[in-house]
Amino acid sequence: MVLIVALLSLLSLLSLGAAYGTLSDDTLKKLPSPGDEFDIKNGAILAPILRTRVSGTPGNAAVRQHFLDFFKSQLPEWHIELHNSSSETPTSNGKKVPFVNIIATRDPPGSHPGEVGRLALVAHYDSKLTPPGFIGATDSAAPCAMLLHAARTLDAALTKKWEAGAADDLEEQRGLQILLLDGEEAFKEWSDADSLYGARALAEDWEFSYHPAASTYCTPLDSIDLFVLLDLLGSAAPKVPSYFATTHWAYKSMAKIEQRLRDLRQFKSSPNHPARMAKRKNKKPRKEPNFLPEAAKSDHVFMGGIQDDHLPFMARGVEILHVIPSPFPVVWHNMRGVEDDAEHLDMDTVEDWTRLVTAFAAEWMELEGFFDPKAQGRAAYTDKTEL
Ligand SMILES: *[C@@H]1O[C@H](CO)[C@@H](O)[C@H](O)[C@H]1NC(C)=O
Ligand SMILES: [Zn+2]
Repeated sequence: MVLIVALLSLLSLLSLGAAYGTLSDDTLKKLPSPGDEFDIKNGAILAPILRTRVSGTPGNAAVRQHFLDFFKSQLPEWHIELHNSSSETPTSNGKKVPFVNIIATRDPPGSHPGEVGRLALVAHYDSKLTPPGFIGATDSAAPCAMLLHAARTLDAALTKKWEAGAADDLEEQRGLQILLLDGEEAFKEWSDADSLYGARALAEDWEFSYHPAASTYCTPLDSIDLFVLLDLLGSAAPKVPSYFATTHWAYKSMAKIEQRLRDLRQFKSSPNHPARMAKRKNKKPRKEPNFLPEAAKSDHVFMGGIQDDHLPFMARGVEILHVIPSPFPVVWHNMRGVEDDAEHLDMDTVEDWTRLVTAFAAEWMELEGFFDPKAQGRAAYTDKTEL
């Protein structure tokens, strides 16, 4: 009896281990670049997000429409849902402001809700009310753009994998979810009541949205194996600590991919990237600080987390990987000289994050062998919404 139990747990360990598939060097090198689509003036993915988009305003609705258009034209297999809520805010004079989260999900074909766990990639798309004109390029226009680009790259590989019949064994399969949340910013001053409007409403509703009885995962919250929240990304030289002991293993996986991408000279922001090396006389490799420098830290030294959209989910037991730099970028909530606008983005860093997040998700979804290197040459997406 004891032996059987031990054997069973060994088997389940083995299958857990297999559920994270390392990407080959070749795949890492061939992950598609955002290229023109991340141009801050005309880029089909990024440019339409770089505008004011305060919750409840036309700018917010226009950016939401841009996301919906992107999924409709680029990712038609995805299930799109809008999650609506409304709330008074300290500046709304008793009126209710609408908050609209976008939930985009791609589950294995033939699966039903409650049967598969999901990797959720998350960012907020609203911008801060004050100071007037605040763009929030790192907060979180660029992270949203990263997620759209990553979703499309991963979608192509998922399609190939599932066409190859890999979805037949549902227990081995996972879904992918992109959450674009509204109402993260405070309207007046950050407090529990004045912040995280969309995230709070969604986590509350999902806690009691039950999947059919006898489902493996009881609610959409349970379905989230890992909630990866990107925020304040797009400034040069970010340092993202590992915030939570329970997801330090996931942090380490991402850090390992970062190191591999750097070793393969795929990190454009690195002083040792070939394009930068070519421009300087002294060819000696330079020290390059990692975005995720804490992979080696001891498993029990964790600082307090940062308040953000993950909180209402974490309070309900969802595992969180919070990808936010500490210290915050100098542009944070700033309009004086160093503004958080398009011109202050470090586009090499934005591109590096995109590649890193894509690769992390690809390993999570076990997509090695399903990327098509030729897909890189496909005609770039052109967006038709007006800026
Ligand atoms: C949610 O809000 C959006 C935007 O205002 C609207 O288009 C949509 O119909 C609403 N959905 C539901 C289910 O009420
Ligand atoms: Zn902010």
